[in-house]
Amino acid sequence: MKLWSGRFSADTDALVDKLNASIPFDRRMYREDIEGSIAHADMLAAQGIIDRAEADAIIAALGGILKDIEAGNYEFKLADEDIHMSIEAELTRRIGDAGKRLHTARSRNDQVALDLRLYLKRRIREIIDEILHLIRALHNIASHTMDAVMPAYTHLQRAQPTTFAHYMMAYASMFRRDVTRLEDCLERMDLSPLGSGALTGTTYPIDRMRVAKALGFAGITENSMDGVSDRDYVIELLSDLSILMMHLSRLSEEIVLWCSWEFKFIELSDRYATGSSIMPQKKNPDVAELVRGKTGRVYGSLLALLTTMKGLPLAYNKDMQEDKEPVFDAVDTVLSCLPVFTAMLETMTISRDRMRAAALEGFINATDCADYLVRKGLPFRDAYTIVGNIVADCVRRGLTLETMSLEDYRAFSPLFDEDVFRAVRLETCVASRNVPGGPAPTAVWAQLESVRKFLEERGVTVHDEA
Ligand code: ARG
Repeated sequence: MKLWSGRFSADTDALVDKLNASIPFDRRMYREDIEGSIAHADMLAAQGIIDRAEADAIIAALGGILKDIEAGNYEFKLADEDIHMSIEAELTRRIGDAGKRLHTARSRNDQVALDLRLYLKRRIREIIDEILHLIRALHNIASHTMDAVMPAYTHLQRAQPTTFAHYMMAYASMFRRDVTRLEDCLERMDLSPLGSGALTGTTYPIDRMRVAKALGFAGITENSMDGVSDRDYVIELLSDLSILMMHLSRLSEEIVLWCSWEFKFIELSDRYATGSSIMPQKKNPDVAELVRGKTGRVYGSLLALLTTMKGLPLAYNKDMQEDKEPVFDAVDTVLSCLPVFTAMLETMTISRDRMRAAALEGFINATDCADYLVRKGLPFRDAYTIVGNIVADCVRRGLTLETMSLEDYRAFSPLFDEDVFRAVRLETCVASRNVPGGPAPTAVWAQLESVRKFLEERGVTVHDEA
């Protein structure tokens, strides 16, 4: 018999039961549901709404149910509809009338909002931890590659020289923002909706703050209608996870490119690459490709929930039960990607020779050559034109700015001297880009220090081996 069967004289159709039930997916919130109920029961007793002895019986039995679920000795029945009614029904089976008092001054509407906030708070912390480990890996790679010169690209065309360290620290900056975005999301989510009741609160003299504190919330939601119908925190999380996946996907794309024969800047460890069933020579970057591919799936979850919510009047509507599968899937997806992605980066080998060879082609020091003429007194626009002509000439003759003779240089401008060869050396080009944020070792060092501080503020220590 259903908990709400009082008003009904016929059973629901079996297909309705199946469509209506959320227990196949919301069962994963069993721990949060039980924690919430324990705090609620304790508050009801403290406020004299139920007897202390009854509250104690409820709390003890809920503890027993939690143990049984964790030991695998619990049956989640479709007939119970959702995790909230499943546990409440089991409680009453175990302790009788006292169990029936638990739902006093509470609705499944504020209960589900509470459970989801508690659950997501826990998972966000796990995600943040994994991102911090990823940032630490990037920091570590960067600390060893401050001298690994490579081309930086715009339009995927070789543009100017940088180092692998500088490149990695760009991604560290992106993942840092992901961490702080999730921290913000966590902070806004950190309010207890319990006490909102079905939608307009309750007539019982409850103590919402007591429950909130017992459950580790910073405070309580301010309006009961909003308390039960707000899913912004889920949408915000999905947005943050979408941006995170977008960053992972961009780096995945670089990994895929870099381990192609066309680049060969890196080689993945055999443990993080896969083979082909037909082509014996293949070593494929499946991890990076899957992370790139799963990004679409996380975006899909965000779009699904935005669309579900857009036409809903206040307050709770059953549509909102559709919030869980997308956000659970997104959280699972992100957590399945992050640790493997980090391990893939930590175990890849970097080919400095291939990067340097690529940097030597493509005239990525042309800007530096123009800057050389500017230092000798020429306006930048004129210098730019002269170097453009030089590059065209080099291309025609199969030369580079390094291999051209001084005589050839002089044919374009008498301002050229022997020291031009030092000016166009890749190491000089990198070292002179020492503005804050730039690729010069001193500038990258500052970025490493800033990231080290960021990680240490969050309890992650960096081993300085550089
Ligand atoms: N299973 C529901 C959900 O996930 C719980 C809330 C149901 N409330 C209701 N009045 N039907 O949204």
